[in-house]
This record gives sequence, structure tokens and C-alpha cells, in this order.
Amino acid sequence: MIEYYAHLLRRVGLSKNDLICPLIVSELNSSPSFFEGNNLFAMAKIAERDVVQHVQKIIDQGISSIIVFGNPDMRDFGASSAFHNDGIVQNSTRKIKKEFGRLVTIITDVCICQYNITGHCGLQFKNSNGTKDTIDNDSTLDLLSKIAISQVESGADIVAPSSMMDGQVGGIRSALNGRGFRNVKIMAYSVKHASSLYFPFRMTAYSKQFVDLPAINKSTYQLGYGNPRQAFREVEADIQEGADMITIKPSLAYLDIVSMIRDNFDIPLVVHNVSGEYAMIKAAAKNGWIDEEEWKVNSIAAIKRAGADSIISYFTMDLAKYLED
Ligand code: PBG
Ligand code: ZN
Repeated sequence: MIEYYAHLLRRVGLSKNDLICPLIVSELNSSPSFFEGNNLFAMAKIAERDVVQHVQKIIDQGISSIIVFGNPDMRDFGASSAFHNDGIVQNSTRKIKKEFGRLVTIITDVCICQYNITGHCGLQFKNSNGTKDTIDNDSTLDLLSKIAISQVESGADIVAPSSMMDGQVGGIRSALNGRGFRNVKIMAYSVKHASSLYFPFRMTAYSKQFVDLPAINKSTYQLGYGNPRQAFREVEADIQEGADMITIKPSLAYLDIVSMIRDNFDIPLVVHNVSGEYAMIKAAAKNGWIDEEEWKVNSIAAIKRAGADSIISYFTMDLAKYLED
């Protein structure tokens, strides 16, 4: 079977260089999470003190790109730990860069949802009538720029804004350029659909006191299922604002969008195979209902076939064993 799967992945043109390994770095002196108990090891939180050792294992598998998400201890109203020089992502990035230099490309997630009190990707203020909170797009933009700058100062090679705030790419591009970081690339999460497939990520990366947050409704700024034209417009706007790469998520139910974007835009395309897509395969396989190896290989092959240049997946380390380069 190993030869068969290796052949299948080669046929669709997948190589180790196309895979990006997600990493959830944690300030908590990691008590084992629910996901470790359920064998979802690729989603385990990595304590800052273990981060170098962990990245060494990734590099040893021949994988050279990682995307770093932070799981801070504390939340506040201004998401302040997201841009601190000694924040969890900044500290981890510094350690990884110091140890591995150019052996690893570090992509950092630029958002506030793990850091701010509401769990939303944008800041919220009371409406003037005092009743309903709304997301304040524009005041979030400055914050996102501060986060991106602090991450780049810590050694990030690529920043990945994922908040779906309008203007986030342009804001970050000009802030980076203003600091002389013209060479740093922006991987824009342009097409991010509202989805319960993010729940496993939220249950891991959101701090303990927010256990009710996985079902938070982000549909006012994340995309709806039925609107490919909106996806098209988001990509157009992000390219206009200076995005170097475009990201689409989730993956499997959106492969028509992936090939539509591939056909219409000449820009590197990243597809994020998200936590719920990983967890569905792991859970069904654990029950003996499907074959895990078959489905992780088939789903990643399908994403590549649809037109992804790069794939972010919790299956990265598992797939590396089928690939020679
Ligand atoms: C939000 C963010 C999400 C994920 C990472 N950062 C989606 C969300 O919470 O709405 C999910 C990633 C995954 O499920 O693997 N900025
Ligand atoms: Zn977010």
C-alpha cells in the first residue's frame, strides 16, 4: 500500500515542499488536552520550551514550512498579548529562527481571536444605543499591523492575516513597508468560510475559560457557503492590496472554489485542510468505519488535483513518509 499511495501522490504532483505543518504553541504548561486523549496528536499544543525539539522533528521529515498559531494564557479587551514582544508566537518564532535559520520558513497567523476577550477576529464595541456589539473593522486594522510587525521583528518570514477584516492586507503591507520589511511576504486568508469545521482548533487553541466559544458565530465577516462570486471578489481585493499568496479554507467541500481561483488568478494558492477535516477522518477511522491512510492520502491528493500549490494540513507529518522529495 505504501508504494500505491506514494504513486498516487506523485501522480497529482505533490511534493514535501508543498506541505505546511501547523503548530499550536502554548503558554500553558501543557496539561494534556482533549485532543491528545483522542489521539489527535497533530493538534497537540506545544509548550514554548519544547518548540525547538518539535520543529526539529518536522525538519527531520523533510518538511521545511510551518505555520504558527498561538494559545496564550490570558485574554483581554485589546488582545494585547497578540503583539507583545514576548508573546507566545513571538517568543516561539525567535527560538525557532535562532536554531534553524533558513532551514525553515516560518509563517505566523495574524489574528486576535485567541487573544481578545470575545473570541472574535475583530474588536467589538457597543453600538451607540448600547445594545448590540458590532465588529469594528477599521480599529482592528491597526492592531493587526502591530501584530504583524512584532512577529516579523521576531523572525517570521511570511505573515498570514486570517481575521477577514476588510483592508487587512493593504494595512499590513504598508505598515511592513514603512518599517523596511519589503521582503516579507503576505499569505492572505482571502476565502475563509464560516464553518463548524473550526471547532476542534478552537477547542485546542482557545484558553480553558472559553470552553463555550467553539460555536461562536463569525458569519458577519467570514464567507457563506453559497457565494463563489464573493470568494472571487475577496481574492481580487487582496491581490490589489498586495497579497503574495492566497489562502482558501476549509478545503474538501470547497474544491470548486479552489479550481475557480486557480483558473482565474495567477498567484500562489494555499489550501488549508482544517482541524474538523482532520478530526472527522481520525474519529471515523478510530471507530473502524473508514480507512485512515486511504482517506488522508485521497483527500490531500484531491486538494492538490484541484489546483493547490501548497497545503496546510494536520496530516503533513503522516504524508511525509510517502514522499521522497
Ligand atoms: C481564526 C482561525 C481559525 C482557525 C485558525 N485561526 C478559524 C476560526 O476560528 O474561525 C481554524 C484552523 C483550523 O480549524 O485548523 N483566525
Ligand atoms: Zn481569528
